[in-house]
Amino acid sequence: MSRLIVISNRVQPPKTGPGGNQGGLAVALLAALREQGGIWFGWSGETTEEFSGHINFQQGGGVTTATIDLEPQDVDEYYNGYANRTLWPLFHYRIDLTEFERDFGSGYRRVNQRFADTVRPLIEDDDLVWVHDYHLMPLGQELRDRGFRNRLGFFLHIPWPPARLLLSLPSHRKLVETLFAYDVVGFHTEDWLDSFRDYVTKQLGGTLGPNDTVTYEGRTIRAIAAPIGIETKEFEEAAAGNDARFARERMYMSSTGRSLIVGVDRLDYSKGLTERFLGYERFLQQNPERNGLVYMLQIAPPSREKVNTYQEIRANLDALSGRINGEYADIDWVPIRYVNKGFPRQTLAGIYRAARIGLVTPLRDGMNLVAKEYVAAQDPSDPGVLILSSFAGAAAQLKEAVLVNPYSAEELSDAIVKALEMPRAERIRRWEALIDNVRREDVFWWCDLFLAALRGDAGAEAA
Ligand code: G6P
Repeated sequence: MSRLIVISNRVQPPKTGPGGNQGGLAVALLAALREQGGIWFGWSGETTEEFSGHINFQQGGGVTTATIDLEPQDVDEYYNGYANRTLWPLFHYRIDLTEFERDFGSGYRRVNQRFADTVRPLIEDDDLVWVHDYHLMPLGQELRDRGFRNRLGFFLHIPWPPARLLLSLPSHRKLVETLFAYDVVGFHTEDWLDSFRDYVTKQLGGTLGPNDTVTYEGRTIRAIAAPIGIETKEFEEAAAGNDARFARERMYMSSTGRSLIVGVDRLDYSKGLTERFLGYERFLQQNPERNGLVYMLQIAPPSREKVNTYQEIRANLDALSGRINGEYADIDWVPIRYVNKGFPRQTLAGIYRAARIGLVTPLRDGMNLVAKEYVAAQDPSDPGVLILSSFAGAAAQLKEAVLVNPYSAEELSDAIVKALEMPRAERIRRWEALIDNVRREDVFWWCDLFLAALRGDAGAEAA
């Protein structure tokens, strides 16, 4: 069996013991690496005064990780610049927040070249190479330019924007052309895949063929939709375990008789937190008899703190949560508990299980795994209700959630009332349909689906 080389901006160190705190993507990739052998390569998260190409290898749990340090200018232009000031907002439909600086583009290219130069000697002839996310779109082309002939796959974990938006990116054409260096390109939903095909056919003059193929200037690749899942079995077990029980009891004891509404998101403007708070405020305004009977816990660990738009959203949310609490709180009740730190997965599983409502309302999201984790954590005999943005990739699979337009405070408020009033039989019926999907299309299913396509297995069909 050929080895697997995973390349992404961030590298997740292998679990060192029980209670490790890894996301589903990391768990799946580490499992695939363990099974096939191989390396996970990426940025260490550290800087060095002068880039040396020195690789730091680490081994643990049957997996090898290999990381490089970048120069401060690289981090400014590539990570804080092109990746998170240009591509991230634009691909999340926020052209108003998108910055176009020539230096960002050259830093992005330079770091992709540095990745290619350093990873190239680690790769053997029949290794499969799988590149992840918007930080590294041109990496495949850089590798091909260095004579690389292996099977090469790319997965985008964020939305693919409509062509009209993408056209506002200077050198959009060049960026998209680089994707034709891969053999397989994956997206989480049919929607993102459609937007990609639309751009390629209408802007590049490419053509679509059978079996998800796309051809441009004589080069044919497969472009597929493969929705990522979570490590469902492990998460269900975590939710029933001791750490989760302890977290659940902490929640109950601090709020006897009140219904918990929970949100857990990186502190990012794409997550719709401002709109969520405003929707909740509308609910408090329109349902005075329910004030004091519910409370919201919003967990939002800060993210990308050097980027100004992230500083702004943080300041906005500080002010908004303060204003709502100031206006509606009572001597023995606070409507919003707003917490700017992260928690271990076991604790989150317990909090999700204690929550009558999971509020997952991004304005735009490639997938959103919190929605799936909330479902997996529920008590089958008395499950809570998932309120989900129809603009999250997850909405394509989780159709039995209460779907909302996250921009509408009215819809959010109505959805909260509907969820609070929902009879147990309906909650169970909806949850059973949701968990069925979350179990079937889990992260291992996703990983196998993509790798089968990448290997070129006959009959490998996308979702
Ligand atoms: C999103 C991206 C990932 C990224 C993660 C955390 O999920 O798709 O590629 O790693 O956010 O963001 P950060 O900037 O902290 O790596």
